[in-house]
Amino acid sequence: MLKIVVCVSGGGTNLQAIIDGIAQGSVFHTEIVRVICNNPGAGALERAKTAGIEGVCVSPKDYGDRDAFEAALVRAVEEADPDLVVLAGFLVKVPVELIRKYENRIINIHPSLIPSFCGTGYYGLRVHEAALARGVKITGATVHFVDEGMDTGPIIMQKAVEVHDDDTPKTLQKRVMEEAEWVILPWCINLIAAGQVKIENGRVSVTE
Ligand code: GAR
Repeated sequence: MLKIVVCVSGGGTNLQAIIDGIAQGSVFHTEIVRVICNNPGAGALERAKTAGIEGVCVSPKDYGDRDAFEAALVRAVEEADPDLVVLAGFLVKVPVELIRKYENRIINIHPSLIPSFCGTGYYGLRVHEAALARGVKITGATVHFVDEGMDTGPIIMQKAVEVHDDDTPKTLQKRVMEEAEWVILPWCINLIAAGQVKIENGRVSVTE
């Protein structure tokens, strides 16, 4: 059984896709042992509660400084003792300590085809605003392992999505979620749970 902790900041639709994948049997041998959220008002915490999953809020507002917040975040993960940490719309820079302790065991979903529209400042709707401003015709989503850079870790899976002429950032975000994010994030977790994902020299391969 792959024990996962899912870290979230907002509405939690990617969390929901994982919950549904487990419930419907498209994600095997996986258990969400804890949801960690940095934002007490996030809809994602409600989704965890509804699914009967422990939700823990670690908000920077409850800590005197960044170091104390990061230490609490690391503790919240370690207490749950996961095999894999999934960043599903977690808009916090992950503490380096956590990245080092969980090397090749943290994955992230990003709403573009990395290396486009990623890195510092590119998150949520901003990614889609930038894609539309550049006039790209294809965008998509990427699941990757998390290293110490921003969106620079080894790519596990990507899925392309068409941009329409009349798209707004919101309509594009919705299509990228529906056609790509909610598909590839649960899929990657299932592959990892099945032991089919290998990393060698910074490259990922998926075995049969
Ligand atoms: C998702 O689109 C996710 O890819 C993005 O935030 C959104 C969260 O939505 N993440 C990033 O931009 C990370 N750089 P959700 O809370 O409904 O899953």
